[in-house]
Amino acid sequence: MDHFLYRGGVLHAEDVPIPEIADEVGTPFYVYSSATLTRHYRLFDEALDGMEHLVCYAMKANSNQAVLRLMASLGAGVDVVSGGEYRRAIAAGFPGDRIVFSGVGKTAGEMALALQGGIRQFNLESEPEMHRLSEVATGLGKTVPVTVRVNPDVDARTHEKIATGNSENKFGIPISRAKEVYAEAASLPGLDVIGIDVHIGSQLTDLQPFELAYTKVAELTHILRAEGHDIRRLDLGGGLGIPYERSNDAPPLPIEYGEVIKRTVGDLGCEIEIEPGRLIAGNAGLLVAGVEYVKSGEDRDFLILDAAMNDLIRPAMYSAHHDIVPVLEPPAGVDLRPFDVVGPVCESGDTFTRQRPLPPLNEGDLVAFRSAGAYGAVMASEYNSRPLIPEILVHEHQFAVIRARPTFDAMINRDTIPEWLEG
Ligand code: LLP
Repeated sequence: MDHFLYRGGVLHAEDVPIPEIADEVGTPFYVYSSATLTRHYRLFDEALDGMEHLVCYAMKANSNQAVLRLMASLGAGVDVVSGGEYRRAIAAGFPGDRIVFSGVGKTAGEMALALQGGIRQFNLESEPEMHRLSEVATGLGKTVPVTVRVNPDVDARTHEKIATGNSENKFGIPISRAKEVYAEAASLPGLDVIGIDVHIGSQLTDLQPFELAYTKVAELTHILRAEGHDIRRLDLGGGLGIPYERSNDAPPLPIEYGEVIKRTVGDLGCEIEIEPGRLIAGNAGLLVAGVEYVKSGEDRDFLILDAAMNDLIRPAMYSAHHDIVPVLEPPAGVDLRPFDVVGPVCESGDTFTRQRPLPPLNEGDLVAFRSAGAYGAVMASEYNSRPLIPEILVHEHQFAVIRARPTFDAMINRDTIPEWLEG
């Protein structure tokens, strides 16, 4: 459920009509609903009720400072994967003991930043990384809680570019080697081995891979405890999928996911962390675009929008589906006709969808891409020198620009001309 509904024939974000925002900021733009973000966070929090837990929002999905501030105010923790994300978390008001640091390639500088600023735990992904963190931590006179990310070798049944839990990819250590890797971690100064981390992929629409992975984590907990490790925290990653297509079967709910967690690892007495990103932010955001042209091709019609692949890369990168709806509700029973919906960027990859049945649309009309709140704005670029588009946050009847559209001057002036080319 989200808070983007037609009211009186006009699409609203909570109590704000979308055309009102378009009039003020121009198109294209992203708009997020505070109520949906809040609701989704709470669904996870409630799903883990009865267990000691922390929901650590994976900010890679949407790292706007206002979204982060909202999450921090709800009591969430946060999962970061870079020094930049760590700085964002601190700036948004997350205390260090609610920040978890994940990622395969942490630099010594990033480690030092988090050690000095405060950190709940590092999720380590390799032996060289364990050694480096040990050196950095001891150099600063600190001991830091760590988990090791294990790769359980399960098929997440998701898009190949976002599956992370099978043995062929770069993430974590093979679960079969966990005993020796944990022994080594425990021998290193500066590291306090407190738990196990796992994340098997993103946009999982089936609970079975979670069940398999978490069952392996439970087994590993017993094995490592028998080896003398005080395993007391399990970070179970993110990955629960969202309904991108309203017409399809709905993926499992957070409450059902919570039941899998309780069933598999619930009786170990461990504190549970999860790192959801997409499910919190995805359906809390729209990308709103204007129709620039309706063009008739030889065998098909094109809807040319003012938004492009640089604004929302998911269709081009993962062949992802986003529902596209007109901002003005079409009359019931109106004839739909197929369009290729494209942006103005100079390559064929700038195609959001092909032959999508849509109601009649004209130049100047507004359309909205649903489910664009996660991995939308954060993955945008300025390809074709198209400035990053604004982000708007709605709260009931209020809306605020939470990232303004940069001016062309600001964009151009980030580049500098070397001396030898001056004059
Ligand atoms: N934790 C870790 C260690 C992760 O790598 C990820 C996502 C998450 C948590 C959050 O997963 P979520 O709950 O959002 O599924 N750009 C792609 C998605 C990449 C996901 C990367 N890792 C997309 O647009 O589909």
